[in-house]
Order: sequence, then structure tokens, then C-alpha cells
Amino acid sequence: MRIGSLSLENSVLLAPMAGITDPPFRQMVRKYGCGLAFTEMISADGLVRKTDRSYGYLQSFQGDSPLGAQIFGADPAILAEAAKIAAEAGVDLIDINMGCPVRKVVKTGAGVALMGNPSRVSEILRSVRNATSLPLTVKIRAGINSRSITAVQIAQVAQDCGVDAVIVHPRTADQGLAGHASWEIIRDVKRALRIPVVGNGDIKGPDDACRMIALTGCDAVMVGRGVLGEPWNLKNIISFLEGRNEYYVPSISEREDIIKCHLEKSIFYAGEKHGLRRFRKHLLWYTKGLKWGAQYRKTLTNICDKKSLLEGLHLYFQAKNGCCLD
Ligand SMILES: Cc1cc2nc3c(=O)[nH]c(=O)nc-3n(C[C@H](O)[C@H](O)[C@H](O)COP(=O)(O)O)c2cc1C
Repeated sequence: MRIGSLSLENSVLLAPMAGITDPPFRQMVRKYGCGLAFTEMISADGLVRKTDRSYGYLQSFQGDSPLGAQIFGADPAILAEAAKIAAEAGVDLIDINMGCPVRKVVKTGAGVALMGNPSRVSEILRSVRNATSLPLTVKIRAGINSRSITAVQIAQVAQDCGVDAVIVHPRTADQGLAGHASWEIIRDVKRALRIPVVGNGDIKGPDDACRMIALTGCDAVMVGRGVLGEPWNLKNIISFLEGRNEYYVPSISEREDIIKCHLEKSIFYAGEKHGLRRFRKHLLWYTKGLKWGAQYRKTLTNICDKKSLLEGLHLYFQAKNGCCLD
């Protein structure tokens, strides 16, 4: 699988997720193989104004490659400048966000608002294309609402502007993450384009990934929520797509080690207080579906230091009948 000059080791991509795909999470995911990972979405305006927060999102670590920086904005010149800044920071690919439905973003004309504005999309992509020779992708939605499904049109504009691949999350803006992703729209985009198309939406495991490729003909898949609490899911998806069909499920003690490792990385990255806070949601996902998980999660409310968290975690994982898989 190639995206422009970038050759990917496999065709399973980690979706950009704000508040989630930070360096510690990417480190966990990289262990299981990942053709391409993305930063959280970064404000182009913030990068150009050099805010610490936006710059911070470009932080990476050894082995964090290939890495795409996802930027959002509505101004062609600012997005071009931001792409240059991200390129200088050493990322391997630039992605333009055309899917974010958050009001604050949409009202500036950015994110999913672009799905209704093909001429602005063209200006933006020509401007960014001229600014960087890095591989360039766009991540689009189906459209703004069910009366305005513009994915094929916007994808064609992107191709005409020299974009190297299109990532399609086929829900409308007003769907948010609810309901089902309409994979038929990925198929329609794939049929209309010459450049690679990445399908995204509702892939929870290898079966979904295989079905999506069979239905749509897409060149690669991107997984978001399907790896939360189960980063090893990527390994399984890759294995099935490559025909090895090996299914890995970590043992209980491996799970405890994976959680501890993620916690350490989170604290190393953000310090104990913020690291723990950022990690909490992951712990909820890691223990989802485990026996007595709900009871264990209740005990987390009062924990605000690493030592107590580790002690509680160990007790939970060691307890007789405490945490067998359901
Ligand atoms: C918590 C969360 C944060 C997200 N943040 C972003 C983002 O920053 N940029 C983006 O393009 N999509 C974002 N998404 C959407 C995902 O990239 C993906 O398109 C969506 O979750 C559908 O894929 P999935 O069914 O595999 O989760 C986010 C999704 C979630 C759940």
C-alpha cells in the first residue's frame, strides 16, 4: 500500500482521535503494528501562532513512524503554512480534516463545513499541495446531512488538486458517531477515484475489516474506536487481511502488563497528575467486558495517585474469579 511517496508496511491505519491518539497511546498501538498513525487534530491557526498546545500535538518518539499530522482550518494560506510547520517537525504525511462536526470548528468554515464548499476545498488543497511535497490526504465524511451527500464530489476535487489518498468516514455531520457508517459511500468514492481510498467507520475487528474491503474495494482500512482498550485488535486485523488468520487475545496477566505499560507511558509523557487523568478513560476501556469490571471501575473514583492505582489494579487482576473474561 502506497500513499504518494510513502510505502506502508500494512494497510491498517489508526484513526486520528482528539484526546486519545497522543504519543503514549500511539506507543501502545505501534507494538501491534500499524501501517500509519495520526496525531490528534491540530489547529492550523494554533500552529501558525505557535501556541504550545498546538505544537505539543506534533510531539513524537522514536519508532513513531509513519506519522500523519492532521490539521484543520478554513484559510488556504494558514493551512499551507501549518503544513510546512508540521513537515519541519518531521511528520511523514499531512492530512486535512474535513470531518470534524464540532460547532466551534464548523462555524469557522473548517472541519465538516468544507464538505459543503467544494471551491474552498480546491483552494485549500492547491495551496497545501504547493507548500509541501509530503504525501497529502484528506479525511472526509459522507456530507453535511442526508440531503447533501457530497463525498464523491469532494473526493474528486481532492484528486484533481493532487491529493495522494482520500480517507472516507461515511457518516454525515449531523450523525456524529451515531447510527451506522454507510459503507456504500466508500464504494462509490473508490469507484470514482484513481488514487487510493481508505475506508473508515465501525470496524471492530478482523471480520468487519474484511467485509469492508470486500464490499467497497477500498485500498486500506482505518480503525478508531475498535482499538480503544484493545490495541492488540490491530494485530488481529492485520493478520486476517494478510491471510494468516491468527487471532490474539492477551491473557489476564498480559492485560495487566499492557495496562501498566500504558500508564507508565502516560505519566512519563504528562507527569503523574495529568498522566493519570489522561489515562483514566483508557482504564475504563481496558476493563470493559471483564468480569467484575464495573465494580472495579467504581473504585477508581477516589484514586488520584499512581501507587494506589497500581495496587488496586493488581488486586483486581489477582483476585480469585476477579477478572476472567466473560
Ligand atoms: C474520541 C474521538 C475523537 C475523534 N477525533 C477525531 C479527530 O481529531 N479527527 C478526525 O478526523 N476524526 C476524529 N474522530 C473520528 C474518527 O477518526 C473516526 O472517523 C470515527 O471514530 C469512525 O471510525 P470508528 O468507527 O473506527 O471509530 C474521533 C472519534 C472519536 C471517537
